[in-house]
Parts: sequence; structure tokens; C-alpha cells
Amino acid sequence: MSLAALRIRPARGEDLAALTALEAECFHGPWSGPMIAEELSRERAWVDLAELPAGEIAGYSCAWSVLDTCHLLRIATRPADQRHGVGRTLLTHLIGRARSAGHREIELEVASRNHAAIGLYRALGFVQVGKRPAYYSDPVDDAALMLLILNDEASRA
Ligand SMILES: CC(C)(COP(=O)(O)OP(=O)(O)OC[C@H]1O[C@@H](n2cnc3c(N)ncnc32)[C@H](O)[C@@H]1OP(=O)(O)O)[C@@H](O)C(=O)NCCC(=O)NCCS
Repeated sequence: MSLAALRIRPARGEDLAALTALEAECFHGPWSGPMIAEELSRERAWVDLAELPAGEIAGYSCAWSVLDTCHLLRIATRPADQRHGVGRTLLTHLIGRARSAGHREIELEVASRNHAAIGLYRALGFVQVGKRPAYYSDPVDDAALMLLILNDEASRA
């Protein structure tokens, strides 16, 4: 997979089947089609895809834009394309989008044993700011709360 050929674009209704398949490939508790459809129609949700030239979807992210904060709910790269920079490209795009929208920060929760995701977030500057014990139930795990400050001036205002 060539990273240069990767295109990040907003997801559309016709991407639903591909996103549902991607979720099933990437998560132990995947979002169902109706759950993804709800995100696609939600005004405050930003659902972005990483698309390969042939139209295949290598990854996606879903975040909510709420007041001055962007909350990242999902980011995934299909297993065949992991460790080739897709997650980094998606997250970098989201950071730019949140910054352009004037957001103060991006926040997220991540399972404390999800070393790949934590590695990705740290690589892009997120820091852990808290912990929610036993936040996840299947399997039981703590959630690490992570934050990336985008606009420190706004946080002091
Ligand atoms: C987390 C995830 C999205 C990373 O996507 P990816 O496309 O493989 O990530 P990238 O190739 O862009 O990696 C960027 C950086 O993240 C870190 N990273 C990625 N995978 C890692 C791993 N398995 N272990 C440790 N660090 C990792 C590294 O710092 C990496 O930089 P490097 O390759 O130069 O060392 C992917 O592993 C995934 O889809 N996991 C399943 C879904 C999931 O758990 N999502 C997060 C919760 S919603």
C-alpha cells in the first residue's frame, strides 16, 4: 500500500456496507450497520475515510464536534494495512480539521491494554490526563483518558 495514494474524504451513505465490514474486521465489539448509519446522519459527527485508488477503504475515523471540543470515538485501520501510516494520516487529518473548526482540544478514551492505539495517540502528541477504572466490560479494562490541546489560548480565555 502506498501512503501517497491514500485519499482522506468524508464518508457518505453509500460507504455504509464497507464501513460495517471494516468495523467487523477491526473491533471485538463492532458497531452495527444501524449504529454507523446513525453516525453518518448525525450533524455533529465527522466520519472520514482513508480510501485507496481502487476505492477500497483502508481505515476510518469517527469524531464528534461538540462546542469547543472534538471527541474521537473510533479510529481503525483494516488489519492488512496496519503499521503503514494509515492511522497516523487519519488522525493528522482530524487534528487539522479540529484546529480549523476552532476546537480547543481533542479528547478520547482508550482501553489501557490497547497498546497500538495508545502508541498512535502518543505519537501525535496526546497525553494521558486521567483513568476510568473498569470502564470497559468485554473484556474488563480501564479506560485511559487522553487529550491533545490544540489551542491553549482558548483554554485560558
Ligand atoms: C490503532 C490503529 C488505528 C493504528 O492504525 P495504523 O494504521 O496501524 O497506525 P500507523 O501505521 O499510522 O502508526 C502510527 C504510529 O502509531 C504507533 N503504533 C501503531 N501501531 C502500533 C502498535 N501495534 N504498537 C505500538 N505502537 C503502534 C506507532 O508510533 C506508529 O508509528 P511507527 O509505525 O512509525 O512506529 C490500528 O491498530 C487499529 O485499527 N486497531 C484496531 C482498532 C482500534 O483499537 N482502534 C482504537 C480505538 S477506537
